[in-house]
Amino acid sequence: MTLEPFRGRSLITWLDYEAPEIRVLLDLSKQVKEESRAAARGTAAMRPQRFAGKTIALLFEKRSTRTRCAFETAFGEEGGHPVFLSTQDIQLGAKESIEDTARVLGRMFSAIQFRGFKQSTVETLARYSGVPVFNGLTDSYHPTQALADIMTLEESFGDSRGKRICFVGDGRNNVARSLMVICAKLGVNFTVICPPSLAPDPALLALCLPLARAAGAALEVTPDLAAVAGAEALYTDVWVSMGEEALREERVALLRAYQVNEALMERTGRADSIFLHCLPAVKGEEVSAAVIDGPRSRAWDEAENRKHTIKAIMLAAINGEA
Ligand code: CP
Ligand code: NVA
Repeated sequence: MTLEPFRGRSLITWLDYEAPEIRVLLDLSKQVKEESRAAARGTAAMRPQRFAGKTIALLFEKRSTRTRCAFETAFGEEGGHPVFLSTQDIQLGAKESIEDTARVLGRMFSAIQFRGFKQSTVETLARYSGVPVFNGLTDSYHPTQALADIMTLEESFGDSRGKRICFVGDGRNNVARSLMVICAKLGVNFTVICPPSLAPDPALLALCLPLARAAGAALEVTPDLAAVAGAEALYTDVWVSMGEEALREERVALLRAYQVNEALMERTGRADSIFLHCLPAVKGEEVSAAVIDGPRSRAWDEAENRKHTIKAIMLAAINGEA
């Protein structure tokens, strides 16, 4: 499959991608998952080695289990060489400017992944490195997560267009923000249910509302839990994101009433509604153990899908073909 229009492109936020492009990446993710299943069953003679001779720098200012492991295993199993670099190890923004680090890494690596605090850091890496840069989470966005979320929704309900996800919890956080953008682009109805003080950034809403309208989807923000009625998926994330640890007490007090539990899943009024969570989860806070470990939970498929979606994104941007 030719993916030439993707070659060399960074993924900083889904705002930079058109719906048909996101659709191509979703379809490729499904193909990659099937290939992976076939290889595991031993029906594929050999796993393809599409990243042979390629390298990726994985820069981490914040901790990670899924994102790091998805990038490392997806790239490594196809012959690529991932190099993990935490800010304990390199000079990024300490003794060396981000621009200079970007210039140097761009001379040695085929691509860069960045996880950290500021969105401006990943933007600067993309501007100065000359290679594709993937945003593996910042305070503002978590785009690779959102692609896996939509893939997981589609595994249960088919085409995501016209379906509805309710995000319940901290409506300002990176995961909610990326979901809002990808849903608006793809025509997925998206409802943020949160206390008014944790409502999404009005500037991002102002960008996404016309996109959602153009795609025929509703984008709503409400404090009212009754809005879960009819939703295909309830989604939540931790109440305290990385870097906000000092706000813990305040957040728990604000969000206590917003736990996703069996009673809330029932209020969807659908026997087939599913539960999604980017993980890691704090069971007993944003979600009850009964829900995340129960039959409606797709959180573990969603975690696996991080690997397939990230492989698809890398194939498109690094190789320009699959
Ligand atoms: N969902 C997610 O990004 O998980 P990690 O923080 O473990 O990478
Ligand atoms: N909102 C969470 C997501 C973790 C994957 C955080 O930023 O910590």
